[in-house]
Amino acid sequence: MKILAIETSFDETSVAIVEDGVRVHSCVISSSMDMHAKTGGAIPENAARKQVEYMIPALNEALAEAHCEDMNGIDAIGVTVGPGLIGSLLVGVETAKTLAAVFNKPLIPVNHVKAHVYGTFLSDTPPQFPLVAIIVSGGHTDFVYMSEHGQYEWVGGTRDDAAGECFDKCGRILGLGYPGGPAVAKAAQIFLDAHPTTKLHALPRPMAFDDTNDVSFSGLKTAMARLVKQNEVDHTYSTEQLAAELQEAIIDTLINKTKRIIQQRSPRSVVLCGGVSANVQLKSRFLALQKNELASISIHVPDLKYSTDNAAMIGSYAFFNYHPENPDSIAPNPELHF
Ligand code: KG4
Ligand code: ZN
Repeated sequence: MKILAIETSFDETSVAIVEDGVRVHSCVISSSMDMHAKTGGAIPENAARKQVEYMIPALNEALAEAHCEDMNGIDAIGVTVGPGLIGSLLVGVETAKTLAAVFNKPLIPVNHVKAHVYGTFLSDTPPQFPLVAIIVSGGHTDFVYMSEHGQYEWVGGTRDDAAGECFDKCGRILGLGYPGGPAVAKAAQIFLDAHPTTKLHALPRPMAFDDTNDVSFSGLKTAMARLVKQNEVDHTYSTEQLAAELQEAIIDTLINKTKRIIQQRSPRSVVLCGGVSANVQLKSRFLALQKNELASISIHVPDLKYSTDNAAMIGSYAFFNYHPENPDSIAPNPELHF
């Protein structure tokens, strides 16, 4: 079954054609990130306008690349309905509803956060159930136990800021620009390459060692702001070291909570996903878990292109959770939960 998938929750316009949930025939991603970098963050109105501009070209390109011009061979349509920015979501949802009506195709509404897990199904070695998913993105940090497709049990997550949000806000505090995550990671890597043995403990790890499955990142942002202010006086740290300190604090926190949840749940696989899973150090610390303490559990991280927002994961989710709905009842939901 070939699914045409559309993702427009934020600042990426993505269209993919995915067969049987695993085989990506095309995945076009047009991003308006560069425009948002100029304003230091995404202005929702601007993001929505770019979605309108990019939608039809992305659609045409994805169909052409998959040799499905005129919707030839497409069996169904999957679309992100939330969470996200309302203006951005509307563009994708209305496009999908129009295509479904004109070409008489089933339409599957998709929860963007749940779909991040499916970035790891676009692989020759997909995860096995039951699995624990560590979903770390710009808007969400959720820890989820899945006994099978469609069965989600939320077992923990952030009490305030998301991990990506913490990277982004601290990136701004450090003057590293937008989006902060990749910029912090790049600066941190410069420090780590030059000082591989330096212990990084200038920042706290709020809640990392307590007896809950939750995390909190807003205190880390406040601690970073304080440290930067102090550093302006005593010049103890370079910007690159501060970036490495932040990255290490976030990674330590996520790793500790993951180990705790694994102990409680004994899953067969652990999935690290969401935009922050593009972080090379985070990824390697997760993969190292398998070699060291958790040899019986397989650890899965999406390919880099399926870590950050993309429509291929939407197409995979729609296949494995094939529940078409009447297009008239489908509407964007910016606050959509698990
Ligand atoms: O999943 P995603 O693409 O969009 C949302 O659903 O939010 O995640 C975007 C988040 C941003 O906060 C971005 O800074 C972060 O992922 N991110 C990273 C890296 N690449 C993207 N964070 C840390 N290191 C990275 N290399
Ligand atoms: Zn996302």
